[in-house]
Amino acid sequence: MVFQEHQKKITEQISTAIKEEFQQDFPHESMRLETPPDQEMGDLAFPCFPLAKILKLPPPKIAARLADRMASSPEIEKAAAHGGYLNLFYNKSGFIEMTLREIHEKRDAYGNTAIGNGQTILIEYSSPNTNKPLHLGHLRNNTLGMASANLLDAMGYRVIKVNLVNDRGVHICKSMLAYQKWGGGETPESTGTKGDHLAGKYYVLFETKLKENPDLEEEAQALLHKWESGDEETLSLWRRMNEWVYQGFRKTYSRMGTAFDKWYFESDTYRLGKKLVLEGLGKGIFYRREDGAVEIDLTGHGFDKKVLLRPNGTAVYMTQDLGTAKLKYEDYAFSRSLYVVANEQDYHFNVLFKILELLGFEWAKGCVHLSYGMVELPEGKMKSREGTVVDADDLLDELKSLAREAILERRSDFEEGELERRAEEIGQGALKFYLLKVNPRNNIQFNPKEAIAFEGATGPYIQYSHARIQSILRKAGDLSFDSLDLSALGNKEEFSLARQLYNFPMEIQKAAEEYNPARVCEAALQIARELSKFYKERQVLKAESDELRTARLFLIHCVALALKKALTLLGIQAPDRM
Ligand code: ARG
Repeated sequence: MVFQEHQKKITEQISTAIKEEFQQDFPHESMRLETPPDQEMGDLAFPCFPLAKILKLPPPKIAARLADRMASSPEIEKAAAHGGYLNLFYNKSGFIEMTLREIHEKRDAYGNTAIGNGQTILIEYSSPNTNKPLHLGHLRNNTLGMASANLLDAMGYRVIKVNLVNDRGVHICKSMLAYQKWGGGETPESTGTKGDHLAGKYYVLFETKLKENPDLEEEAQALLHKWESGDEETLSLWRRMNEWVYQGFRKTYSRMGTAFDKWYFESDTYRLGKKLVLEGLGKGIFYRREDGAVEIDLTGHGFDKKVLLRPNGTAVYMTQDLGTAKLKYEDYAFSRSLYVVANEQDYHFNVLFKILELLGFEWAKGCVHLSYGMVELPEGKMKSREGTVVDADDLLDELKSLAREAILERRSDFEEGELERRAEEIGQGALKFYLLKVNPRNNIQFNPKEAIAFEGATGPYIQYSHARIQSILRKAGDLSFDSLDLSALGNKEEFSLARQLYNFPMEIQKAAEEYNPARVCEAALQIARELSKFYKERQVLKAESDELRTARLFLIHCVALALKKALTLLGIQAPDRM
């Protein structure tokens, strides 16, 4: 790709300067260039700290000597030292043209690489339990999962998106038990309730009744035992209620654009897990306790003891994860297997990966937990048991209606159908961007009103920047970029925009490497901010000359491609009008 070639030439020039000045080999492949915090300081920065160790010289000294040594080139106009950094300024002539033509030519593929080389990465996300509807935590999970999958796909990996459904276990039996006792045969149809919400209602009801009658806990355990021994009546209620839940999940997923290539079900994989546990028992990796439970002692590995089968022989959460992990490998021979799961399960995944390693699976090395922080409400932590959750469907509706109001404040010319569609796109754009702009490791303090603003660091701001370009391009009428003279571009705002567009692919790559879509959000915001500055200072449709007008239209057309690319990677729609 053109940008990578350009970067390579620059790193080679630095490498040559190092060789000439210090007679020291410093391979350009290992060089990592950075972007200076302030554009006045330069376009690229080479940190001299790694060299300082080798040369035994202070970094500012090295930077100063390299700045004197660097010759100007078609890529670099000048060099300057700033502390321990060697700062470089692009040669502006040709830079804008190179950047824009490359973007125009690559279109949707702008920013993609082939570094993944077709290797398979499996990514599991969402992974709900079937006793309740999706909540705000799942929304963060789904958006992180989709965005990470999109990023890896753009890097040329073969990405397999999977959902693991924990569709059995004592929590499901709790909803089932409550329904058996107090459901009176109602159904999603009879009540006009979305199926996952109906099942969730009985889960909450169970917890309420449990407070009056602690024996219910044991009844739920007994029901699980019945389920595991294949009791037909229990199984048939389980199938029926789970089907309600799946219908509900599917609706929410399709509304959000959350997609999967494959669904795994705990009710299948726990058997495989049990088999693995018994094999490990045979090999002496696990042992049987006096009460009959099967356990592993991980105290030598910095963990506790972990039960893998209960005394009555039933499987636990870990059991199915052992089976699911192995099945995933058998199905896809992945080189990496990612798990997008909240950080409250950090310990679980450390233990899971350790057990897989002890069982001798080579591929366990490729398992990675993409741990993310919790979403906190102003009122504190969410608890589905107590019904104090933000329901995913409700929140999607709320943002949609906020978006509708925001649109109506600005314009009244949309037909009802378009208004609906745009409100949905913008509401979701607001929500997803809000959840993605925070580094996945950090917690989020959730505030829906803040998310919906058309200005500031929001999804609608990016969507609006894109839509406004489309509107200008429409007004410009029939556009042909065949005979284009870009030499007219070159003022500060135009150059700054081009520079952001040039940097964007590097940010995408880093985002993919770090599994951190927040980098894409930040890059998109920077592009949008530069665009606002550009509009403020320069005219597009009323530019001083025809050449300049066409050139500026071409510039904003490339900006639109970048913004759309960012939104698409984030799983957000890019409306043409809003
Ligand atoms: N269903 C689980 C929960 O809601 C998350 C499953 C995560 N994935 C896994 N392979 N254990 O807490």
